[in-house]
Parts: sequence; C-alpha cells; structure tokens
Amino acid sequence: MVSTLRFSMTRRAMLLASVAIAAGSVGIAHADGLPPLKPKATYKVGFAQTESNNPWRLAQTASMQEEAKKLGWQLVYTDAAGSAAKQVADVNSMIAQGVDAIFLSPREEKPLIPAVMAAKKAGIPVFLIDRNVDATLAKPGVDYVTFIGSDFVLEGKQAGEWLVKATGGKAIILELEGSTGSSPANDRKKGFDDIIAANPGMKIVASQTGDFARDKGRQVAESLLQAHPEATVIYAHNDEMAIGAIAAIEAAGKKPGKDILIVSIDGEKDGLQAIIDGKMGATVECNPRFGPAAYAAAIAYSKGEKIPPTMVNKDNFYDMSNAAASIATSY
Ligand code: AHR
Repeated sequence: MVSTLRFSMTRRAMLLASVAIAAGSVGIAHADGLPPLKPKATYKVGFAQTESNNPWRLAQTASMQEEAKKLGWQLVYTDAAGSAAKQVADVNSMIAQGVDAIFLSPREEKPLIPAVMAAKKAGIPVFLIDRNVDATLAKPGVDYVTFIGSDFVLEGKQAGEWLVKATGGKAIILELEGSTGSSPANDRKKGFDDIIAANPGMKIVASQTGDFARDKGRQVAESLLQAHPEATVIYAHNDEMAIGAIAAIEAAGKKPGKDILIVSIDGEKDGLQAIIDGKMGATVECNPRFGPAAYAAAIAYSKGEKIPPTMVNKDNFYDMSNAAASIATSY
C-alpha cells in the first residue's frame, strides 16, 4: 500500500511537471470559489466523452478507464455519440448520481456551457480535458477548475508552416474542417489561416466540415475535388478525414502525396502509416492519452494545491523522418 502510494505520488509529480503551464497563469485552488474536492481514499468520478467514432476517441477513453482502474476509483462513463444535447444530459445524469468530480471533453464550445454551470451549482468540480468551452461564457478557475489539452491554434500553425516549406509557398488548398463549433475546429482553422494569410502564393479555395470522421471526410473531399480539380493540397483537421481524403484522391485517379499533398493533425496509427507509404506529408500530434494528467490534476486539487487554469500538452510532429519509429506506440 505504502509503495503504491509512493509510486502514484512520484508519477503524479512527474505528470504535472510534464504539462507546460500557460505563460503568466496563476494557480487556482478551491479557496478561489470553485467547488472543492474533499480528500478521500477513493472517488466516484464521471467522464463525459463526446463520441466514439474514431481511434483518437477510443484511445482517450481507454486512457481514462485504465487510470481510474489503477487508482481504484469508480468511473461513470458516458458517450454522447456526437450530440452536444446528449452530452449535456449525460453531465446532468452524473450530477444526479452524485459523482465527486467530472472530466468533460465538450463536443462544442457553446452548448456545453449549461452543463459546466450546472455542475458548479451542484458543488461538483469540473476538469475540461482535450476540448474547451467558449472562454467568454465560462472561465477556468472560476466556473471549472482547469483546461488540460493541446494548443489547437499552434497545431494549425505547425501544419501551415510545414506546408509553406513543402510547397515553396505556392498551393491551392482544400480544407476539411472538424466538427462545427468545436474548439479544435475553430482553433486549427485560425492557426492555419494565419500562416496562409502571410503567404500570398497560397490560397484556400474551399473549406468545409467533415465532422472529424473518415467517411464524411472522404465524401466532402470527393465533392471538393470535383469542384476544384486545380487543387494541389488538402489540409485536414484530423487524420481520420485525411485518410478519407486519400481514398477520394485515389478514386479521382490522382496520386495522394504527389499530385495532391496532404497535411493533417493527430498522429494516429493509420496517419503514420500513410506518411510511411508516401501518401501523406506530415501530421501534427494531438495526444489523446489524458488519463494520467487528468487524475493527477484532480488529486492535486483535492489536496488544496494550486492548479494552473490552463495546462498545455507538449506534442510531437510527425513526417517521413520519424513516422516509422513512432508507429509502434501509436493508436
Ligand atoms: O479534440 C481533438 C480532436 O477530436 C481530434 O483531433 C479528433 O481526432 C477528435 O475527434
């Protein structure tokens, strides 16, 4: 028992140190007005997942479940199946079940605000993981404890910067956006657009949502390629849509990676394989394995430790130079 505790404490310290604390952020403790998490030997916590339609989501869920099991905590898991309204209902059900804390990956930025506020009103601390809510309507350290996740604007910028180098600053781009209203779709677009706007030889000729899904990405890419046969690049907000786009390019009789370059985000196994096969140029990592950092933050919070309002994951970048070496540990 003692050694288990020592192990988890050391691990917790390492995990909290492994996330970069947002510049200038101030630590938050429950004394700031947030609901406390009373110190207990074990907890019943909720994880409200947004959907389970791709390997990224499955890896995130597995990580949350594995870590709860390691700690011996009870996990109430829900899957909103791609519906923000269901996710709000899922959080309300967790509140009714009396969970001690809620981990939430909000599907969209605005519709999940009432769920965050309801948990706060019920005295249950909320930890946002992976996706964020609209910062003008709910604030970390005030309405929820913290946001733990990747910097989606930076991901879009990195994809854009890679493309500038790969194309010499000349490209006709089709963009496959993520789920409308979600923070990764909004921010990945913003980061990428900023880079493209600074490069006059690059133009986004069409941008449409593929809802972060492989088959939707394929269908949208198919119709955009028909409307814009002059396109030389596809920028997809995740690997699943990029894989769908590869199928659409091949169906159009063109060669992905040659006739049309592809850049994407996530770093899932199929994405890395597409790079190895020469069909995709690069993908910016967005790590789905939130379990260790999420539970470590809750434990620290229960002890009254100061929690930064934003904890940004340090992510990788994959291209031909490292995809093969990274694929074994991918998902
Ligand atoms: O919020 C992260 C995004 O959501 C991942 O890029 C995507 O694959 C997932 O569905």
